Amino acid sequence: MVARFVRWLLCLVGLVIIGFGAFYVVTAPSPLPASHWANLGDPDIKNGEMVFWAGGCTSCHAAPGAKGDAKLVLSGGLALASPFGTFHVPNISPDEKAGLGNWTLADFGSAMKRGVGKNGEHLYPSFPYGSYARMSDKDVNDLWGFLKTLPKSDHVAPPHELPFPFNIRLALGGWKFLYFNDQPRIVLANADDKIRRGQYLVEGPGHCSECHTPRDALGGFLRDQWLAGAPNPEGKGNIPDITPGSKAIGSWSAADIATYLETGFTPDYDSAGGSMAEVQQNIAHLPATDREAIAAYLKALPAR
Ligand code: HEC
Ligand code: HEC
Repeated sequence: MVARFVRWLLCLVGLVIIGFGAFYVVTAPSPLPASHWANLGDPDIKNGEMVFWAGGCTSCHAAPGAKGDAKLVLSGGLALASPFGTFHVPNISPDEKAGLGNWTLADFGSAMKRGVGKNGEHLYPSFPYGSYARMSDKDVNDLWGFLKTLPKSDHVAPPHELPFPFNIRLALGGWKFLYFNDQPRIVLANADDKIRRGQYLVEGPGHCSECHTPRDALGGFLRDQWLAGAPNPEGKGNIPDITPGSKAIGSWSAADIATYLETGFTPDYDSAGGSMAEVQQNIAHLPATDREAIAAYLKALPAR
């Protein structure tokens, strides 16, 4: 009887170990190999700067409230509140000790496109790599070239304040397994080059969905409500629906949307507020053709 029970117990323990082992194999961090980044050549720094503004890195990685040139000092320090706890955004300036000074392009590329840190750990998706994963290798190379030209800062951000189980990075593999991929988010039949460029900017570097798309309880996007508006993580009200036919921008022309992204003014001469104000100021650095492409993509989305 006892022997039978012991055998049963061992069997159960074995299954649990296999279970965790399988979880780990399926969900282990998977950086891109260094060879993936080997043949990209010299970065185009000017394009890297455009990717930087499209990606809005400064909104999270500069010191809170930074203005003008201080926006280019990526010292970290912003505290990002979330339903899972508070994240303290790290220093990504070229400082050797406090920042990314001794990272390689391959290290940086795996962070951007796989959400894997320099020590092979999973990164939290509060760093919107779920969107950045859609970026081209060329843009990642150019962005890396540009970041290396920015000033160093020796500021060290405090550790994140996350309760158990959210403080376990290994568990992020489960999130990635469920939600992480680099495929287009919306199938657009007959999209022309302009719409495709807009799709790339919105779904990739621009990470517009991180605020404008609602999520399920585990933080995955509700794909059938793509960009259709979401509760505001800052607490008050909702982030607007930006699909065609929405109450917010349904009556706007593509030119109205492009003007809003350039100047911050709506067709009624209201100005962009909340977290959109910074997004708009970043997007204002892009060439006009890119803002027109973003507007064309938003107009091409299926209405909800
Ligand atoms: C919405 C806020 C936000 C934006 C926008 C953002 N980041 Fe981050 N980033 C974070 C947070 C939070 C972390 C910490 C993640 C973690 O600890 O796992 C982070 C981590 C990183 C890391 C890893 C640093 C390390 O020490 O491991 C890199 C590299 C990085 N970000 C680069 C960028 C770049 C480049 C951009 C712009 C294209 C960008 N980030 C935009 C919030 C952001
Ligand atoms: C950090 C969160 C965040 C991100 C990222 C973001 N938005 Fe917004 N967006 C907002 C908020 C908040 C508002 C409401 C602004 C207001 O109340 O004035 C808004 C408003 C808008 C509006 C105007 C809607 C209206 O009714 O006035 C448009 C258009 C828009 N966003 C497009 C975009 C595009 C395109 C991107 C990606 C390039 C983007 N947003 C990324 C938070 C965000």
